[in-house]
Amino acid sequence: MTMASAAARAMFAAMALVAAAPAGARAATAPPPAATALAFTDARAGISLDGPWHVIVDPYENGLIDYRSQPRAHGYFDDAKPKDRSELIEYDFARSPTLAVPGDWNTQRPDLLYYEGTIWYQRRFDFAPRAGNRVFVQFGAAAQRATVWLNGKRLGDHEGGFTPFAFEVTGRLVPRGNSIVVKVDNTRRADALPALNTDWWNYGGLTRGVRVVETPPVFVRDALVQLGPDDAGQVRGFVRLDGARAATRVTIDIPEARATITVTTDGAGHARFAFPARVAPWSPASPRLYEVTFRAGVDHVRDRVGFRTVGVRGRDILLNGKPMFLRGISLHEEALGRGGRATTRADAEALLGLAKELGCNFVRLAHYPHGDEMTRAAELLVWSEIPVYWTIAWSNPDTLASARRQLTEELARDRNRASVILWSVGNETPVSEPRTRFLRTLVDDARAAGDGRLVTAALEHHYVDARTVMLDDPLGAALDVVGLNEYVGWYDGLPAKCATLSWRCAYDKPIVVSEFGADAKAGHHGDALTRFSEEFQADLYRQQLAMVARIPGLRGVSPWILVDFRSPRRPLPGIQDGWNRKGLVAEDGTKKQAFEVLRDAYRAWAASPPSR
Ligand code: GCU
Repeated sequence: MTMASAAARAMFAAMALVAAAPAGARAATAPPPAATALAFTDARAGISLDGPWHVIVDPYENGLIDYRSQPRAHGYFDDAKPKDRSELIEYDFARSPTLAVPGDWNTQRPDLLYYEGTIWYQRRFDFAPRAGNRVFVQFGAAAQRATVWLNGKRLGDHEGGFTPFAFEVTGRLVPRGNSIVVKVDNTRRADALPALNTDWWNYGGLTRGVRVVETPPVFVRDALVQLGPDDAGQVRGFVRLDGARAATRVTIDIPEARATITVTTDGAGHARFAFPARVAPWSPASPRLYEVTFRAGVDHVRDRVGFRTVGVRGRDILLNGKPMFLRGISLHEEALGRGGRATTRADAEALLGLAKELGCNFVRLAHYPHGDEMTRAAELLVWSEIPVYWTIAWSNPDTLASARRQLTEELARDRNRASVILWSVGNETPVSEPRTRFLRTLVDDARAAGDGRLVTAALEHHYVDARTVMLDDPLGAALDVVGLNEYVGWYDGLPAKCATLSWRCAYDKPIVVSEFGADAKAGHHGDALTRFSEEFQADLYRQQLAMVARIPGLRGVSPWILVDFRSPRRPLPGIQDGWNRKGLVAEDGTKKQAFEVLRDAYRAWAASPPSR
């Protein structure tokens, strides 16, 4: 951590209140911090701030601290212009280069490919809201932390690079030429999430869209609408108003199902509801969406929602009451063909299209919440995860608070996405008391959201003897579905080892093999024992698929990974060159032999899935 960012951080710690339960205290002591992002923004009046933003690359945090590393009274956040020819101002956004928003900065300029630190974003905008209305600025995501100023006034900051956040700016706008300045910092930190070490590149920037959103004084801030977990004939949920001073009537309507209900909120603007509705169940085979509208006073918002139930029974995962086998694939949020963060609906559909071609009905979005373009576009079942990855600061209360906030923001954003059925609270985390306590708090938070989804995590295994593998991570006891990452045949022996192993699990629960795989450079050939060749990868898939089918309780797989992705941990010249090559598809879209191996297996499993 540079001196500059440490000073900046100390200053923000002083300026920003981060309340967190002491390490070890269970969720019972403090509710998770609320998400600040508004729901239903697409349906609201407002303007997009996407497009070119001026930027200043600031590795020394010069925009914020002076030569004594003390906070500046006047810095880049003022977005100032010299009043006359004598005034000294040593920056000028208007004459500074631009970067596209949304987008990571690393793949937009070669000199920024491996840049980590601060970049200041600035743009001006005109906006005149209707009299009496409220206005918010909402960010889809800023990697990894952001501080926002409007017209020189600091609005606040946000930590966590993959979830949305918003600030209210009612009464702070001028009709023309509003200045918005965002300091984005993707410096990796040991106490942050993700922490210092990840097997993906730490893209920085305003990686998702920015919008100015206008609402009436009282508006629908958040709502959940879904089928009751055990009653497919009833729609249940809650609605939360913002600005309500007294009990307010809210009408929830599903016109295509001729179902409607009007409820009255409590004084805090909150109401639960349940009403009968005959809706066709959503599934990958029939991803039927219904328009749902919420009306509260003059506020009127809508969303397109799929209705489905999800659950477990013994070792089975149930979708709409029927056992389901998850034929999946894991993927990073790397744009096919161009690399860097995927940002558009088209990017999402390109990746989902490949998964469908494989015969998938499931995708694991690793290791952080992907954009809502993805969860909205997905007609497949989705595993969504927060970046509690490998080893993090388990006993640090700030880290726990960050995990809880990222989870809450993820849950709130995708609350009504039928595709999302699994919340994952972590990946390959080393077993210890503080770790398990930390993760159990997140499991409790995910359950407390009451959206009926399943909770999981990607766990590791150990050997009982040379031929017997055991899955008995203590966290498994708290999960609905046990995720298992294993690399037999790649990090652990050669592919032939798969046939020699038998698997045991301490839990009578559904198991999803959330990762297995092998690197292969597209076009690199050799025999099945030649590492990094397509033949080796294809052979590993054959051996792995035969092995996992023998795992008791197996109810799904999501091999690692759909497409090659950028990782600074992969330097092998001529093969990896900064990319993890475990994709079934290269970053330019070239399919490798193993793509067909998995597609053929899924064709067979669609007819008769392995299930012991
Ligand atoms: C791990 C990890 C992935 C990583 C993969 C690999 O299991 O979860 O993030 O990329 O293995 O080594 O390729």
